[in-house]
Amino acid sequence: MEQFIIKGQRPLSGEIKVGGAKNSALKILAASLLSDKKWRVKNVPQIEDIERMTDVLKDLGVEVLSIGSGYYSLDASRAAKTDLDPKLTRRLRASIMLVGPLLARHGRVRFSHPGGCVIGKRPIDIFLAGYKALGAEIKERGGGNYEIFARKLKGTTFVFRIVSVTATESLILTSILAKGKTILKNAACEPEVVSLADFLNSCGAKIKGAGTSTIEIEGVNSLSGGEHTIIPDRIETGTFAIMAAALNSHIKITNCNPSHLDALWVMLNNVGMKLDIGKNYVIVEPSGRLRAVNLKTHEYPGFPTDLQAPFTVLLTQAHGSSLVHETVYEGRLFYTDILNQMGANIIMCDPHRIIVNGPAKLYGQKVTSPDLRAGIALVIAALLAKGETTLGNIYQIDRGYEKIEERLQALGASIQRIREK
Ligand code: EPU
Repeated sequence: MEQFIIKGQRPLSGEIKVGGAKNSALKILAASLLSDKKWRVKNVPQIEDIERMTDVLKDLGVEVLSIGSGYYSLDASRAAKTDLDPKLTRRLRASIMLVGPLLARHGRVRFSHPGGCVIGKRPIDIFLAGYKALGAEIKERGGGNYEIFARKLKGTTFVFRIVSVTATESLILTSILAKGKTILKNAACEPEVVSLADFLNSCGAKIKGAGTSTIEIEGVNSLSGGEHTIIPDRIETGTFAIMAAALNSHIKITNCNPSHLDALWVMLNNVGMKLDIGKNYVIVEPSGRLRAVNLKTHEYPGFPTDLQAPFTVLLTQAHGSSLVHETVYEGRLFYTDILNQMGANIIMCDPHRIIVNGPAKLYGQKVTSPDLRAGIALVIAALLAKGETTLGNIYQIDRGYEKIEERLQALGASIQRIREK
């Protein structure tokens, strides 16, 4: 097991480049199962979750070749296996993205409830209801094991009971080769959904309305080969901006798409940050006194739940009391206990709401990363803290941020990766 040793209270400066979006790349890789022609995908982040996804794809028989840094060639023409190996999918929530393509291409799939971050219950009822509406037969084998069959998937109208990003993407993938038209209502509008639909359309799919809450998919017989560049990771962009704000630092974030983060820029302005926002860069400038604000997470284009934990760390440095309302997950505020151990003054009102009283002095501690986004929030807290922090379970951070310590060292941070004794 590896750890980070972080020495705090050093301002950061310089430029940091954003990588390809984890939550886009995972879906594009999974979608490769739908085509028997070659796909080439660029700007894929070199992170643990992508490793896990390529492991599962290879196990299914997909030829995955790395043809350059973050550049892959995918060929699913000989992939015939339809059982997802639970040992491989246990650590990857996004493995659920493979179910739709396998069902669409082979008419059968067997899988276990997917693993991933411990941030709430994370059920799959919406996926199952969607497959069923498209004509699939679902057999629950007990112990979270499922077998799904479909002789021929048929277009339908499906209304999501709540907005779900991966369920929206999954039903797009499941209906692409179905007979007739599928209409998805109350669909997720995230940029990753739009990017997936754009690429699939370039391969011959007929998807209209991605980026709005109603998406229409006209089934086609097959998908062609194609080439795609993964969009910049908006969560990484936001993480770096919040980190710079918390550390009162001057940082230029490049290779990003700031238009995917409008709600974050509004909140940073409200806190009192000065920002220069360009088409593909953001400059964060030292601000002085930070103000408390109330924050509510929301589906896109609202404030992303994946930036809630980093923003909460920023709020520990703001003057006054901030209310943070996490509306998406019921288990995504428990890391605040760890921030309190480090000196923060955060009161939990209920599993969805906290009050952050600031400013608070943070002190280095021995702590453990509970999940990916809370993990990176603890990195920010450690960079702010007086003294040294030992941060364990950094596999969680490696799941979503490529070589984070090297990139932060380049900005002047004192962060070292060591093997746990
Ligand atoms: N939900 C259900 N039933 C379902 C599916 C979802 O009740 O069948 C609930 C979830 O439990 C949650 C809510 O719906 O309370 C919304 O979750 P959603 O399904 O939108 O989340 P997701 O698609 O599983 C993706 C990202 C998450 C990100 C959320 C919200 C991927 C692989 N994951 O998850 O990313 O937090 O959307 O934007 O795209 C991360 O990167 O750290 C991460 C957790």
